[in-house]
Amino acid sequence: MPSLDSLDALLEDELKDIYDAEKQITKALPKIMKKATAPELKQALADHLQQTERQIERLEQAFDQLELRPKGKKCIGMQYLLKEGDDMMREAEDKDTRDALIIAAAQKVEHYEIAAYGTMRVWATLLGHSGVASLFEETLDEEKETDQRLTGIAEGFVNQAAADTEDEATEDADVPMSMPRRGRVGAAARGEARQMAADRGTTGRRKGGRSAAAGRSRSR
Ligand SMILES: [Fe+2]
Repeated sequence: MPSLDSLDALLEDELKDIYDAEKQITKALPKIMKKATAPELKQALADHLQQTERQIERLEQAFDQLELRPKGKKCIGMQYLLKEGDDMMREAEDKDTRDALIIAAAQKVEHYEIAAYGTMRVWATLLGHSGVASLFEETLDEEKETDQRLTGIAEGFVNQAAADTEDEATEDADVPMSMPRRGRVGAAARGEARQMAADRGTTGRRKGGRSAAAGRSRSR
């Protein structure tokens, strides 16, 4: 293992790390796609799988331009990010909740990659490898677009959740006036309102269903 005492060595190490991370992602994505329900989410994941395959090719071009042999180094960060996402998905029985968790897990992966490619682009530029820096920038832009697309899907769920709960308006009749009825839409806000009512011993009928996870996706 080379010692990390120069920017060249750092760049090589990070390149090997992300090369392995991208390969882990290509293995994980098909399994995650099977667990997703919303068509737009499935499509976003499928598109990102194709994109990831091109990103791997781009990394191989970077290895080539740096006169290095394409070789991965186990990316522990990605391994645990994917494992954490998988563990969370297993716990979600409700399909909407699972979709929300998939978006959350995928966005954590995207943010890891955005950090890695952003760093590598700077290092490559500092070392005078402008061609390599451009390759990293291209991928960096794709990762950012994917992250934004996932945010858009998550926000779509929130609108749907708001529509789904519209017929529950009367149930919140005992919610204090200070709690906007349509402003803080979604399950989390409503759940909180119900809890406040429950604390006062005045809770009405309860509907199961949309979970804190749906609210979690909403907060992005
Ligand atoms: Fe990627």
